[in-house]
Amino acid sequence: MGFADLGGLAYPWDSLLPYAERARAHPRGIVDLSIGTPVDPTPAVVRDALAAAGDAHGYPTTHGTSALREAVVGWFDRRRGVPGLDPDAVLPTVGSKELVGLLPSLLRLGPGDVVVHPATAYPTYDVGARLAGATPLATDRVEDWAGRSDVRLVWVNSPGNPTGEVLGVEELARVVAAAREIGALVVSDECYAELAWEEPFASQGVPSILDPRVSGGSTQGLLAAYSLSKQSNLAGYRAAFVAGDPAVVADLLTTRKHLGMIVPAPVQAAMVAALTDDAHVAAQREVYRRRRDVLLPALGEVGLQVDGSQAGLYLWSRPAGAADEQGDCWSVVGDLADLGILVGPGAFYGPAAAGHVRVALTAGDERVHEAAARLSGR
Ligand SMILES: Cc1ncc(COP(=O)(O)O)c(C=O)c1O
Repeated sequence: MGFADLGGLAYPWDSLLPYAERARAHPRGIVDLSIGTPVDPTPAVVRDALAAAGDAHGYPTTHGTSALREAVVGWFDRRRGVPGLDPDAVLPTVGSKELVGLLPSLLRLGPGDVVVHPATAYPTYDVGARLAGATPLATDRVEDWAGRSDVRLVWVNSPGNPTGEVLGVEELARVVAAAREIGALVVSDECYAELAWEEPFASQGVPSILDPRVSGGSTQGLLAAYSLSKQSNLAGYRAAFVAGDPAVVADLLTTRKHLGMIVPAPVQAAMVAALTDDAHVAAQREVYRRRRDVLLPALGEVGLQVDGSQAGLYLWSRPAGAADEQGDCWSVVGDLADLGILVGPGAFYGPAAAGHVRVALTAGDERVHEAAARLSGR
């Protein structure tokens, strides 16, 4: 009996538990900045839509309602600079983590196939490739995989978790061109796209892989994955979608129909409300911006510098002056835990990240101010 090699992975967050204990011992309590889980309420406009759709006696469709797919198409046009998407080429998913984890398997990738993902990355890209029996390749360099016929899937994550780096139009277009040359599918995980802080992305937006400047006006070989978890504080709803190449979406739809991977009907209704109301997204963005403005200078008070982090929910931090690979994230995690502040060790995101810690903006205002006070020695 053969099981896929998941790299001997214990769930990495378990190794953070002793540090959580240490942080909890602080007399003014723990400030947990380790996980990017939204802490603010789900907006009323979304909750009302969920409640109104509570009578869900029949099975929902795997493809999603046409209202939902039209809402996704409208959102891409309005918010992402992607006009004219085909509603048939939209597919709701049960959160985006399941899509990330299962996509290589759903595409029937396996032994001999290579799945490229960013060098410093959300670990699910790697696990998903291994689960399928494929080989993950962690790199940010197109040269490392261009021209290779065994590369079948290339993950892009912009804005990135954990680095907060944003890929510009030219960088994305290079990935697309190299992938199209070898017939590989590019899937861009864009779940932080509505949370850009620095220019030019704050005013011009974060480019999508489906942006015509990137795609050349064709979705061939491209998928964009998006999640409403972060922008709309509904991680508990498990609401996300992919859109792009109609043939790939049609294939995924058929497979998912067989497997019963269906977004619940009330969640589909809630997604329509979330995708057609930009006001709550703008308001939430300002909440995070204020928290970021409090935490960013405070990290400097304890000698941490922030790299990347132009967008997204994290401050990607390391001891000022230390080279990336020299630092020891666990000693920083320990020092901050002694201040009662829990952060994520970079080591969870790949060997290149072991000098960094990830500081999430997802704590309430009171806790964020408390963290800043402790970092400033108050
Ligand atoms: C890069 C990235 N992709 C996907 C997800 C999963 O989001 P969800 O499953 O809530 O849609 C996350 C969550 O933190 C993430 O950081």
